[in-house]
Amino acid sequence: MWRLLAGFVLLLCAADATPVGGRTVPCFGKMYHVKGELSLPFSGDSGIKEPFEVWYDLEGNRSRIDYHNGTVRTFLIGKDSDYGVIYQITPVTTETEIQAVKCFQLKGTKEDPIRPQSALPDLQGFEFEKMEDCAGVQCEVWKKVTQAGHKKNTYRLWVKRPEGSDSPAVPYHFEMEGFNTLLESHKDKYMIDYSDFSSQTESDIFTPPGAMTCHEFPDPPEEHQILANPLQDYVSTSPVSHAHRLFGPFKEKFQRKYESEKEHEERESYFLHTFRHVHSTNRAGLTYSLGINHFADRSEAEMARMTGGLIIPDQIKDDTK
Ligand SMILES: *[C@@H]1O[C@H](CO)[C@@H](O)[C@H](O)[C@H]1NC(C)=O
Ligand SMILES: *[C@@H]1O[C@H](CO)[C@@H](O)[C@H](O)[C@H]1NC(C)=O
Repeated sequence: MWRLLAGFVLLLCAADATPVGGRTVPCFGKMYHVKGELSLPFSGDSGIKEPFEVWYDLEGNRSRIDYHNGTVRTFLIGKDSDYGVIYQITPVTTETEIQAVKCFQLKGTKEDPIRPQSALPDLQGFEFEKMEDCAGVQCEVWKKVTQAGHKKNTYRLWVKRPEGSDSPAVPYHFEMEGFNTLLESHKDKYMIDYSDFSSQTESDIFTPPGAMTCHEFPDPPEEHQILANPLQDYVSTSPVSHAHRLFGPFKEKFQRKYESEKEHEERESYFLHTFRHVHSTNRAGLTYSLGINHFADRSEAEMARMTGGLIIPDQIKDDTK
C-alpha cells in the first residue's frame, strides 16, 4: 500500500505542478546533492550538531550519505544482491582497536528492500502554512501534523524559490517538534539546516570502496536499520518512528514495568532522547563507543544523582573539543 502511494507521489512530484491552496508543492527532483546539519537541541547541556552530506539518485536506485565530513560513509545500493545492500564505512573503537576503519553491510529483504534514502521529507500530507523570512529572503513554510497515541508531531519544512514563485524549490530548514498531550510537554525536537543544494551528482560518488570485507552490523539486530541508515529516522514523518519502535524491545530486555501511563510516556521520551544521543555521538567517531544500556530510560537529573554528578554527556563534550 505504502509503496504504491510512494510511487504515485513521485509521479506527481516529477511534474512539479501539484497546487495545494494555490501553491506548488516543493519537489526536489530525482537527483540531487545537498549538505545538512542535524541538531538535537536537548542533548547534553548545549545540544548536539551533526553534519552530513547526501547524494541522491532515484533512477539509479542509489544514494550515499556521509556523516561528519566523510568520517562515516553510507552507500545505499538498490541493485546489489537480491533486495539491495547498505554499506557503511566507519571508524570503530573496541577494547583492542582505536578507530579502525571497518565496513558493515545490511542486506535488504523481500519485505524491506533497500531504497535510496532522501535527505528531505516526502511532502505527501504537507500543507502550505505561511511565508517567513529566512535570513533576508522569503521562504515558504510547509507543515504536517501527525498523531499517534499521546504523541503529536509537527513537521515544518522551509523552502526558498530563488527564481520566482513557480521555480524549483531549494530546501532551507526542517524542524520536528513533538508534543506529548498526556505530559503536556515539548520534549522531543530536532532540526536540519540545509545548504549547497544542487540537482547534480557525479556517478562515481556512489561506488563503495572495493577490497574491503564487510561484516554484519553489531548486535542487537533490531538496531541494524538505524545504524545502517540513521537519517531515515529523522527525515521520515511517519507517526511512529523507527526509534520509537525500539522502546518495546528495550522494555522487554530490561524487564521494565512502569507504574502509570504517564510514567510510561515519560520513560519513552527519555529513551528516545538517550537513543538519539548515543547513536549521534557514536557517529562522531570518538575514541570510545557508547551503548544503549539499562539507564536509557532515565533523565539526566536521575543519572546525575546515581553517578554523583558524573554525567555521560559531559564526558562526550570534553572528548569532542
Ligand atoms: C572535510 O574534509 C575535507 C577533505 O578530506 C577537508 O579538506 C576539509 O577541511 C574538511 N572539513 C572540515 C570542516 O573538517
Ligand atoms: C531498487 O532496488 C530495490 C532493492 O533491490 C528493488 O526492490 C526495487 O525494485 C528497485 N527499484 C527500481 C526502480 O529499480
